[in-house]
Amino acid sequence: MSAVAAVNLKARSLRIGGLELDNPIFIAPMAGITDRPFRDLARELGAGLTCTEMTAAAAVVRAPEDAIDRIIDLGVGEHPVAAQLVGCDPQMMADAAQICVERGADIVDVNLGCPVPKVVRLGSGAALARQIGETARVLEAMVQAVPVPVTAKMRLGWDSGTINAPELCRALEGVGVAAVTIHGRTRAQRYTGLADWEQIARVKEAVDHIPVLGSGDVRSPSRVADRIQQGVVDGVVIARGMLGDWNLLAQTVHQLKFGNPGPEPTFEERLWLARRHWNAVVRHHGERRGVRLSRKFVVWAVKGCSGAARLRARVGDLYTLADLEELFEEVRSAGEAPEGWHRPDFTSGEG
Ligand SMILES: Cc1cc2nc3c(=O)[nH]c(=O)nc-3n(C[C@H](O)[C@H](O)[C@H](O)COP(=O)(O)O)c2cc1C
Repeated sequence: MSAVAAVNLKARSLRIGGLELDNPIFIAPMAGITDRPFRDLARELGAGLTCTEMTAAAAVVRAPEDAIDRIIDLGVGEHPVAAQLVGCDPQMMADAAQICVERGADIVDVNLGCPVPKVVRLGSGAALARQIGETARVLEAMVQAVPVPVTAKMRLGWDSGTINAPELCRALEGVGVAAVTIHGRTRAQRYTGLADWEQIARVKEAVDHIPVLGSGDVRSPSRVADRIQQGVVDGVVIARGMLGDWNLLAQTVHQLKFGNPGPEPTFEERLWLARRHWNAVVRHHGERRGVRLSRKFVVWAVKGCSGAARLRARVGDLYTLADLEELFEEVRSAGEAPEGWHRPDFTSGEG
């Protein structure tokens, strides 16, 4: 087999514990974004794995039986999918992990990177990751409680003076965690500055055998392929780069499999994908809630069309599917901005 064929074959799959994933391009967990319609479209466009938004373990464990499906909301036949939990109590996290698996999760992921005050004040998210022994105890309890792989997603450290991801990941590997995702920023950075992929590479060097996925500023299919093929990471998770740009995912998967990103989508093609997503959101959540939830996606999709500012200003007035369709037709006839389409910026989040 030629070296190129060998690289492409390797690029096509990634094993996490006993789970063989089609490819190592994953969708990042994003609160308020990666609900079931988002994950379904991402899977259809080729994501190797999708992940739920983070869910508090306490909310899962304490939910009445009839409310759990709303909280975790995994579809029948939705595979492969990871459910992400946040919390810091070993027993609570283990119990919540079991419930996620009963509901169909193929992987249970733990959020060790959430920077928001309401989470770190409780000792969870990025605050838990500061305490390596404590974090390992939580993850170990979960590994022992469920038959599926348990994974973790974290930042480099709390701040630039306390980078601990390599040490933390070694400890997690030691208690049976099956893969780690590193967001290449510190908690102090939140979502500012550039992700540091050299620091992410140090984690890869620090662990023995578990896959390391990188997160942060994933926007270029060819850079993703370089990083995977050079062994900097085993895979990547796409986050803000996909907001308003569904094609980034499809192009990245294509790049990895075939060595090129495939044809550049037209403005119309981008727009039709966005519309498919809005429609799925409305079908899943009902018209009233679905249209409200779609508004932010519409804002991102509209960027880069002629007269975007005027069309964006109307998003707050969208209430029905008919309103959405009307705006879609207007955006379509407005066409691409003369300066071309550009990826939207987005600067907040929970991981
Ligand atoms: C709106 C938003 C919500 C997020 N929610 C989560 C979350 O629930 N769990 C998590 O681990 N990370 C979360 N993140 C972090 C992303 O998964 C990702 O690691 C981060 O955005 C860095 O990647 P990027 O620079 O490519 O956006 C969130 C990010 C954003 C922008």
